[in-house]
Formats: sequence, C-alpha cells, structure tokens
Amino acid sequence: MPYCQIANNDICLNYVQYINHNLKKEQYKYMQKFIINGPVKLSGEIEVKGAKNQALKIIPASILSKETITIDNLPDVEDVKKSLALLEDLGAKISQKGSKVEINTSGINKIELNPEIADKFRASIMFIGPMLARFGEVKFPHPGGCVIGAGGRPIDVFIEGFKAMGVEIKEDGKSYHLKTKNGLKATNFFFKLVSVTATETLMMAAALAKGTTKLHNCAMEPEIASLATYLNSQGANIKGAGTPSMEIRGVGEIKAGNFKIIPDRVETGSFAIMAAATGSEITIKKCQPDHIRILLEIFKRINIPFKETADTLTIKKTKNIKPYNIKTHEYPGFPTDLQSPFTVLMTQANGNSLIHETIYDRRLLFTDSLSQMGADITMCDPHRVVVNGPSRLYGRTLTSPDLRAGIALIIAAMTAEGRTEIDNIYQIDRGYEKIEARLNKLGAKIKRVDI
Ligand code: EPU
Repeated sequence: MPYCQIANNDICLNYVQYINHNLKKEQYKYMQKFIINGPVKLSGEIEVKGAKNQALKIIPASILSKETITIDNLPDVEDVKKSLALLEDLGAKISQKGSKVEINTSGINKIELNPEIADKFRASIMFIGPMLARFGEVKFPHPGGCVIGAGGRPIDVFIEGFKAMGVEIKEDGKSYHLKTKNGLKATNFFFKLVSVTATETLMMAAALAKGTTKLHNCAMEPEIASLATYLNSQGANIKGAGTPSMEIRGVGEIKAGNFKIIPDRVETGSFAIMAAATGSEITIKKCQPDHIRILLEIFKRINIPFKETADTLTIKKTKNIKPYNIKTHEYPGFPTDLQSPFTVLMTQANGNSLIHETIYDRRLLFTDSLSQMGADITMCDPHRVVVNGPSRLYGRTLTSPDLRAGIALIIAAMTAEGRTEIDNIYQIDRGYEKIEARLNKLGAKIKRVDI
C-alpha cells in the first residue's frame, strides 16, 4: 500500500500503524476543523465515490475465500481504512493503488479481532460472519464508535442468528467468543427487525454453511443484492438478495475475483440536497439515481427540478421549495442516512415539515445546531421534529456529532450568512472522501484547518 499521510505530516507504513496513530491519540479527531463561508451558489460537476457501506462489507467478505480479490472504486475514507487495518492485523496481505485494492486472506493466522481497532467502529461486526464461516471461531469486543443509536447499538439480532446456526456464544460483558462445534449449520431464521448489517452477516455466514438457510424479513438495500451477485459469480448459491426472503445453499468453497463497489447513494443524495438547499444547479456523475428514487419522487412534489440518466443526475435551480413530511424507513423507503441533510433542506422550504426518524434514537439531536443557526425547529420527542421554514441561517461554531449530521451541517453552513466553524470533522472524514476539495471545485468556500 502507499504511505498514509496524516494531519500533521507524519507518515505511516501500513493501515494498522495509520489507524493506531489516529485512534490511540484520542485528540486527533479534534485536531482539525472546517471553516465555511456562506452563502454560496454551486455550479459544475461532481463525481460520486464508491459506497462506504458496501466497502465495509466486501473487505471482510474477502475472508470467505483464500484467493486474491481485487476491489475497485474503494472510497478513501477513515472507516474503510479501519476495516483494512483490522484485516491486515488478522494476517491478510493488502496492496493498494489509488482506489484499487488487492486482498489475500490465505495467511490469516488468528481468530481474535484487534480490540484496539474493532471497538472503534460499528462495522467491525461485519468480520464475524466470514470469520465463523471460514474458521468456525472468532473473538471480538462489542463493536462501538457510534453515537447515533441508544444503548451502544445492540448486536442481539446477530447473536440470535448465530445461535440458530449452532454457534456457542460466550460473553463477559466486554467481549464475545463465538465457536461452532462442526462448522455453521443451515437454519430457517426470521429477523425480528430489519437490519442491514445483520442481513449481510447471516447471508455471508450461510454461504459456506452446511445445508440450505432461509432468511426472512431481510433488509433489501442495493449493496446487499450487489454483494450477493458477486458471491454467486464466485461459486456461492444465494437467491432472493434484495427481497425480504433469501435462500442460501451453502457451498464448499468460494473463489475470489474482481469486484467494483457501487456508487454511494448517500453521497449522491447528500449532493442533490446540497444543490437544492443552496438554489444551485449541479450535475452529479458516476451515480445511480435509481438508488435514491424515494428522494427524487419527493423532489417532484416539493418543486425541485432535476434531470437524470442511468448514471448522472442534474439538479436545477429552484426558489419556491415546498415543505414535506418524511418518515425514515428501510430501503426502498426514505433512508435514515439522508434524514439530516433533508432536515436542513426543509429549513429553506415554505411551511411546516414533520421529520420522523424511526431508525436511530439520537439522529435528531443535531437539530439543536440548526436552531443555533437560526432555524425554527420544535422537537416533539426524540424521534420527531417540526421544521418551520423558511429561515435565514447564520454562521456559528458547531460540532459534528456523527457522519451524516456532519454533512448536513456543511450544507447548512453553505446556505448560511457568514462564517461557520465545524469541529470534530473526523466524523465527516469517516464517510466522505476529501469533501472540502471536491465541494470547493463546485464553488464552496471550505477550509480545513489544524486546531
Ligand atoms: N438493531 C438492534 N439490534 C441489532 C441490530 C440492529 O436493535 O442487533 C437496531 C439498531 O440499533 C437500529 C436498527 O436496528 O435502531 C437498524 O439498524 P441496522 O442494523 O439496520 O443498521 P446497521 O446495519 O448497523 C447500516 C448502515 C448505517 C445505516 C443503517 C440503516 C452500515 C455499515 N451501516 O447500519 O449507516 O444508517 O444500515 O440503513 O452499513 C452511516 O453510514 O452513517 C450509517 C449509520
């Protein structure tokens, strides 16, 4: 892999060093902030990067095979680096050139996920299914690193699923030890709630289990269907991915080949909302508008004109944005990951909008920052706010609580009068690649500064 350059110009030799440098020094996340001047009008074209939430699945999926997998369109974001570091720490060989990475996991020589890395990001849970499928055993800390869900974001659904597959589970309050007697066995499992990562985890585990597994009440995100298509092309037998029911016949072996990560639909939607909120015209390229159909249907109803092809989306200028009530929902419903940017957009609409966040308990808390900027927002309860637009927003000093609220605050700052400072931007770097450089090309005025 190429050297990793970090904030203060130190250079690290590999992913594990890089991540240790960033994460062990807790203060790192506070070392940089964005200074944003507004209001701005944007114009031009922006390319969407590969989907973070698919990269975080295909990297651990490489454990399912002992052969070399080549992953293309890998986004250069912090969560992906953590995932690569975790894999490298297990003993995998990784070499990266730009957005292409080659991974060979034949040399994995331990069954314990490095707790220093794993407990820093929720998606470390994605390693559990492939590790159990290949080695029949895995030890890991409770995955952490996220503020949006209550109770430390539970993993009970995963645990129920693994128990159904015959896994013995030992837990000491801090970490887990999962072990199978004679490998994973097929099951008929109904998810008690729709979970993206739990669906992907059981799908990957079942791919190498003995017998045919049936999964019901599955998540239907496009990243899941695309991962299944890849695994099938390499020897797996997965039917129904992208629908509520899946049937997975376990196979003896999965080969590895080339995988191209699909465009990030959350990034696509965030850029579309950014253009609408700032009254700008931009063209978003290398995207799949079909994956944000619900947002585009809403755009039609709230007076935001757009034009689309299979892989581009042009948002046109608009003035009179209508209010709209949304309720977040699993795919293909309104994504929770676009709720925060959409809430900002509604501060510029003419009238009252009810925003109902159904997936995460803490994802509306960021609206306090919007109120500080001058938005008229009433919190009804932790899951619902009413936004009374339009409001003129003013620059303030703010903190990014999580990734999606972070991009929402950037959008708010771009519509606001004056200077906004956003700190804790490590949260934004977790999921958006070189965001300030890419937005500045469109006419934004964003500076990254060391604190
Ligand atoms: N839940 C449980 N128990 C579980 C699993 C989930 O109670 O064992 C609850 C969660 O606390 C949450 C709900 O179920 O309230 C849904 O969570 P889900 O498991 O679907 O979320 P996830 O799979 O952990 C993925 C994305 C999230 C995205 C959600 C919903 C990845 C790595 N993460 O999370 O992305 O918001 O699906 O679409 O794929 C982000 O990118 O900012 C992000 C948070």
